[in-house]
Amino acid sequence: MVKRPDRDHFLLKERFKLESEVFDKQTLMLLSSLMSKGTINNMDYPISTGKEANVFRATTPSGSLLAVKIYKIETTHFMNRKEYMIGDPRFKKFRRNERDLVNAFAQKEFKNLQICEEAGVHAPKPLLQVKNILVMEFLGEEGLPYTPLNTLGPESIDQLKSILTDLRKMYKAGLVHADISEYNVLVGPVPYLIDFGQGVVLSHPNSEKYLERDVRNILNYFSRYGFEIEINKALRYVKGEEKKI
Ligand SMILES: Nc1ncnc2c1ncn2[C@@H]1O[C@H](COP(=O)(O)OP(=O)(O)OP(=O)(O)O)[C@@H](O)[C@H]1O
Ligand SMILES: [Mg+2]
Repeated sequence: MVKRPDRDHFLLKERFKLESEVFDKQTLMLLSSLMSKGTINNMDYPISTGKEANVFRATTPSGSLLAVKIYKIETTHFMNRKEYMIGDPRFKKFRRNERDLVNAFAQKEFKNLQICEEAGVHAPKPLLQVKNILVMEFLGEEGLPYTPLNTLGPESIDQLKSILTDLRKMYKAGLVHADISEYNVLVGPVPYLIDFGQGVVLSHPNSEKYLERDVRNILNYFSRYGFEIEINKALRYVKGEEKKI
């Protein structure tokens, strides 16, 4: 084969440009280390590209699927979200810069997912977290991710009850999600809660306020489709003050 150094150089530069547009340098290094360790064999495709994070489907060497959430380093949105970090005693340490704050959000989501797993909440099982990368269970079937609730719309009051029961389990375990909406619920055989980076422990000064907001958000959404549960009853149920919903 004829060597074409100019062209090869050009292709390499293009490839690097492409990858570095999708992943910053820290992320590229971490991904390549996860690959050499055998955690990930391939990054398949982006499931979602958002303001704060991108989520990819990935494959392990044995062929099973994973979800890899990569928090964006360059975003400025996290600075607006400091309130969720500052009041949480697990994250008291002063964070110097944006990168530390972003990594802390990934760590917070990972820890919150561990609490959920322990409490039997329908949420992705956490696998590992390094810096801004969170690796977790892939929620989907036949290789395709489950669809968010906002796209499908609610189907039954049982879906709402399942979500409230998960919030109740979390509350009992000392955790409030603080970002519940139809966008952060994936619809499988049961609804799954996702996106736990904002979740706070009950000692956060605003935890009760966030809990009420979560419950209100989801009740309002379902009520637009004719599935109604009264707010005070729902709140009492979530807080364990009422046995049934
Ligand atoms: N474990 C998972 N399995 C399958 N799909 C997932 C999983 N986690 C997240 N997703 C998909 O990725 C999307 C974004 O995830 P998530 O809500 O956690 O990120 P985000 O913080 O909202 O990102 P942004 O705010 O930047 O949009 C979800 O709506 C869902 O479609
Ligand atoms: Mg989300």
